[in-house]
Amino acid sequence: MSAGLEVKNLHKSFGGITVANNINIQLKPGARTALIGPNGAGKTTFANLLTGILQPDSGQILLDGIDIRALGQAGRVKAGIAKTFQITTLFPEMSVRENLRLPILEREGYGAKWFGKSQVNYAADDEIETLLDDFQLTKYADVTVGQLAYGQQRLVEMALTLALKPNILILDEPAAGVPTSDSHLITDAIERLSPDLSVLIIEHDMKLVFRVANSIVVLVNGAILMEGTPEEISRDQRVRDVYLGERHE
Ligand SMILES: Nc1ncnc2c1ncn2[C@@H]1O[C@H](COP(=O)(O)OP(=O)(O)OP(=O)(O)O)[C@@H](O)[C@H]1O
Ligand SMILES: [Mg+2]
Repeated sequence: MSAGLEVKNLHKSFGGITVANNINIQLKPGARTALIGPNGAGKTTFANLLTGILQPDSGQILLDGIDIRALGQAGRVKAGIAKTFQITTLFPEMSVRENLRLPILEREGYGAKWFGKSQVNYAADDEIETLLDDFQLTKYADVTVGQLAYGQQRLVEMALTLALKPNILILDEPAAGVPTSDSHLITDAIERLSPDLSVLIIEHDMKLVFRVANSIVVLVNGAILMEGTPEEISRDQRVRDVYLGERHE
């Protein structure tokens, strides 16, 4: 039995189009793996297969050696696989602090009915402060999320996801739409994540990828073209031809 996430021979087709073609990937504890590839390569589809939004046609998804395909989305979050919340799931009228309280209470099984009960809130307070600090959001704690700059909102998304205490974190384009002047906020936050966490980063921003990933998987037409270290990937002529050439100098 191997620790972490292991995907074996994963297949998925939509109609006649194969979007996952025999994908094999292993994410060990502490992994910093980037999944890159052209638009439509199947990266988001792969993330959706991991989180249970989609079911594969065949293949296995093993978490610490146990096949989790039968688990629904909520079951997979409980098992420790989390994909970042989308900004659209944040509550724009609530403060950063109040937004962060929700997934903590949810995780602890209190849900909305306990919201406002002082004891429970107190228990969550320390954890909220730690998350605010980890994501350098302390000075925005009492600002309503809707008033934050886009880059800060994306940090709140990440912090909310971390509040679920995942073992495997999937980031689908964490820097997309963030102005270049703020993209270091995202890169810094990824670099500060717990070293034990396994992180899969789907991203087109090659500067970010080459800074945070120690392993890169290149997906083309649903199939893995190559997997290697950032150095190996940046040297490979096939990868340069199909994807990197125009993106990375
Ligand atoms: N629910 C669906 N039904 C049918 N086809 C789909 C569905 N979801 C995705 N596809 C198709 O699967 C292929 C892979 O899409 P996917 O969104 O996974 O690509 P991607 O690598 O994430 O691209 P991008 O870099 O643009 O985000 C595309 O051809 C897309 O149109
Ligand atoms: Mg995508």
